[in-house]
Amino acid sequence: MNRSKPDHYTIRAIKEGYPARSVYKLEEIDQKFKVIKKGAKILDIGAAPGSWSLYSLKKTGNEGFVLGIDFKDIKLKQFPNFKFIQDDAFSESTLEEINKIGEFDLVLSDAAPATTGNRTVDTARSEELVEQVIDLAAKIIAGQGYLIVKIFQGQNAKKMIDLAKEKFEIVKTFKPQACRKDSFETYIIANKKKQ
Ligand SMILES: C[S@@+](CC[C@H](N)C(=O)[O-])C[C@H]1O[C@@H](n2cnc3c(N)ncnc32)[C@H](O)[C@@H]1O
Repeated sequence: MNRSKPDHYTIRAIKEGYPARSVYKLEEIDQKFKVIKKGAKILDIGAAPGSWSLYSLKKTGNEGFVLGIDFKDIKLKQFPNFKFIQDDAFSESTLEEINKIGEFDLVLSDAAPATTGNRTVDTARSEELVEQVIDLAAKIIAGQGYLIVKIFQGQNAKKMIDLAKEKFEIVKTFKPQACRKDSFETYIIANKKKQ
């Protein structure tokens, strides 16, 4: 597929001031599952370049709070209710900061590990990341809160879905139209954490 030519979503993202076209994946998820509420406290794992965090900040309003985490820096520092940690989301110090904030209404993870080209290594890394996200989310999400996490179809997707089902009452998968046609990504939408 020719990715040098900007598609409809890329052009729209530029016009609407979002740093990435991936915002429309979150918008579709949100329109379908109504996951982002005014005043919500949201953790955005793998937040760079920042379009999911920006969408979340706009939807949660002045009473909301978004904590973004990524290895790469992002430019949303003008929002007083946005905090950013530039680090591994699962480093000891990041986890300490997350725990200080307390419970979240929503955990988002669009994170994807850097690929090596070796399918076995890439699958293992991706699986480890999703497992870490699900485990963390199950600890920090408030009772009725939601988890949205990116997985890759075929790469042990069933194992990831089963893991989410161990921790959450309701687990669905959804592939937004905005995902590129040649992409294997899809999203787990989980809520009602098991006690
Ligand atoms: C597809 S991008 C996210 C795009 C973002 N949702 C947006 O709309 O702007 C995936 C990001 O996950 C980040 N990432 C992957 N593993 C991570 C980890 N363990 N900790 C923090 N960030 C991570 C990468 O650095 C990358 O920036």
